[in-house]
Amino acid sequence: MADTAVFDEQAVTASVTEGIEKIAQASSTDELKALRAHYAGGDSEMTRASKMIGKLAVEEKKAAGQLMSKLRADFGRAFAAKETELKQAEEQAALEAETVDVTMPTDRHPLGARHPLSALMEDIQDFFTSMGWQIADGPEVETEWYDFDALNFGPDHPARQMQDTFYVKGEKATDAAGFKGSNMVMRTQTSSDQVRSLLGKGVPLYLACTGRVFRTDELDATHTPVFHQCEALAVDKGLTMADLKGTLNALAVAMFGPEAKTRLRPSYFPFTEPSAEMDLWFPDKKGGPGWIEWGGCGMVNPNVLRSAGIDPDVYTGFAFGVGVERALLLRHDINDMHDLVEGDVRFSEQFAMGE
Ligand code: DAH
Repeated sequence: MADTAVFDEQAVTASVTEGIEKIAQASSTDELKALRAHYAGGDSEMTRASKMIGKLAVEEKKAAGQLMSKLRADFGRAFAAKETELKQAEEQAALEAETVDVTMPTDRHPLGARHPLSALMEDIQDFFTSMGWQIADGPEVETEWYDFDALNFGPDHPARQMQDTFYVKGEKATDAAGFKGSNMVMRTQTSSDQVRSLLGKGVPLYLACTGRVFRTDELDATHTPVFHQCEALAVDKGLTMADLKGTLNALAVAMFGPEAKTRLRPSYFPFTEPSAEMDLWFPDKKGGPGWIEWGGCGMVNPNVLRSAGIDPDVYTGFAFGVGVERALLLRHDINDMHDLVEGDVRFSEQFAMGE
């Protein structure tokens, strides 16, 4: 049919009229474009009729041409008017949808939660201040002298090895013994504050020191190269192991409840004599109550007192050091050290209240 030269005036008029009606009902610019493709595109009645004109007899061409111009103009006008109307409506709808109500409540600044380690260190400090002890925190970059020599570590003690200790490159200092060129280290223990405090504050001294310490350990479920210790040091006339034991038990009860207690096992530390490992009776231990190793302790070695210019025949002292992370893992049955260091606020939120 298409290739026989028939100009179907009725069909094209009906098609364009139908198109104009549909345009009037269109509800989106996308729909409008689809209607234009259908009623005025390459495959439309309008295009087919226009192509026919060339094949018509001369006398028919004029009327057919005029009809087609009118139909095309009618269609174009209807399309343009509707397009303007729909575009405006769509713009308006988009503006309304994107309206920002600046008075709405926002969660852009969610509340954080204190890290349980900070909270626990405060608990420990509260325990000591309630007994009238002072709280200190020495420097984290420390001279090798305070971290080792003053604490009676021999020059070849394995703890000084690069495998355990972070040495700070290029830094040398004059240490308290007046020795120029003492290496600087990241302190490996809060015990480094013992002689510093004794020299600075004198005796009698009751002092607790909490803070970060550093060792060249890989981060895994039970180790981290940066961790926290609490060091306690008491130097006075007439202090004995009984004072040490009593203080440890009181700390255990404050941290772990009324059933907690400690026991001592003989051990060795260069800065205490005698020395002991301290175990904690932990009632809520997973798998039933039991002993858990919690730290080291002992009577301050006379050499340490001498490093601070104190006469060991007049004064005696006791000291202990406990790991803060370890206390936290025990207390809350946390199995992985990663949880403590990753800084995920959802972890801290669990401890946010009532701790
Ligand atoms: N500083 C020791 C450590 O990091 C722990 C320690 C042991 C501290 C015995 C003390 C002590 O005060 O008397 O392994």
